[in-house]
Amino acid sequence: MKGLVLAGGTGTRLRPFSHTMPKQLIPIVNKPVLVHILEDIRAQGITEVGIVVGGYAGDIAAKLGDGSALGLRITYLHQDAPRGLAHCLVIAREFLGDADFVMYLGDNMLPQGIADIVADFRTGGADAQLAVQPVDDPRAFGMAELDDRQRVTRVVEKPAHPVGDLALIGVYVFSPRVHEAVAAIVPSGRGELEISDAVQWLVAGGHDVRASRYTGYWRDVGTVDDMLECNRELLRSLAPSVAGKADEASELIGPVEIGADSRVVNSRITGPVSIGRGTVIEDSVVGPDTTIGDDCVLSGAGVSYSIVLDTATISGVGGLYGSVIGRGALVASADGEGRRHRLMVGDHASVHLLTS
Ligand code: DAU
Repeated sequence: MKGLVLAGGTGTRLRPFSHTMPKQLIPIVNKPVLVHILEDIRAQGITEVGIVVGGYAGDIAAKLGDGSALGLRITYLHQDAPRGLAHCLVIAREFLGDADFVMYLGDNMLPQGIADIVADFRTGGADAQLAVQPVDDPRAFGMAELDDRQRVTRVVEKPAHPVGDLALIGVYVFSPRVHEAVAAIVPSGRGELEISDAVQWLVAGGHDVRASRYTGYWRDVGTVDDMLECNRELLRSLAPSVAGKADEASELIGPVEIGADSRVVNSRITGPVSIGRGTVIEDSVVGPDTTIGDDCVLSGAGVSYSIVLDTATISGVGGLYGSVIGRGALVASADGEGRRHRLMVGDHASVHLLTS
């Protein structure tokens, strides 16, 4: 079995962060979404993975390389424009050959893993096995209708008039039969080759399409709020570990991870909090539910339920809540005012909070 991860697309809903990095590289608990996904694929015994990349191909390749650090062999597959999820299969046709494969959308997080879905495919012998979960907003997703034996009877992409509440949650296992379906469909009203149409073609042709209900936590990390929520969820299972140093004047409460070469000085850290490597935190109050990246500087800062990306600086600003601070950004105040702030600060931006 091979793996196919879709990491093209534009990620407009994640602006301003997607202006400077692909949403699939946004870190959740200090690990890019794509790395979470690739580890999940590797855990299924899959080592050959194709990644569909668009405009951010260079950034993704720089982060993941040939995949050997993750025990994978990665092949990059270039897509000139986001022409649809099924178009990715056209691009990947040669890479996939006649193998069965897992297709994993590069912005979907399923931290409990896809083992059950892959096992259902392997034992059931269907041509397509789709991961599904009930949602409150069926108009935002591809939706599946099932019979009482978990066979899929219909799939519709973002239906205007939904029937049922089971959404496709970004993981599909296919036999090579899907390539016939992709060759048979035409672009949808929004001009994309839809994977939902390919699956519907299989269903209509009488092929075996089944669903696996995934009961774990799932999030399509499409917006900044999704990022923060997903980060909070994954922090729940953080194992405390202190490779860096915290001085005696500091207090670490609950699960706290401090990466190598990081220093915590005269600060209170209330877990769960993950701090990357080479970061300095002094005279600050951090946590809970917060991730601080590598090589950051927090001085006189107060941050909770937030994500601070690598090389950001926060100086003299308290009350940061529900905030995402981009790489290399500076958030500074001259007088350390203690009000609450909610900031979405893109990479390399500067924000100066002045009260007078
Ligand atoms: O999150 C689950 C939903 O994902 C499903 O319920 C829908 O059926 C499915 O179509 C998809 O909907 P989205 O609108 O969320 O898809 P999005 O455009 O965000 O693309 C998903 C991933 O695939 C993302 O990592 C970008 C990548 N992609 C997308 C397109 C359209 C590509 O690599 N190439 C593309 O052409």
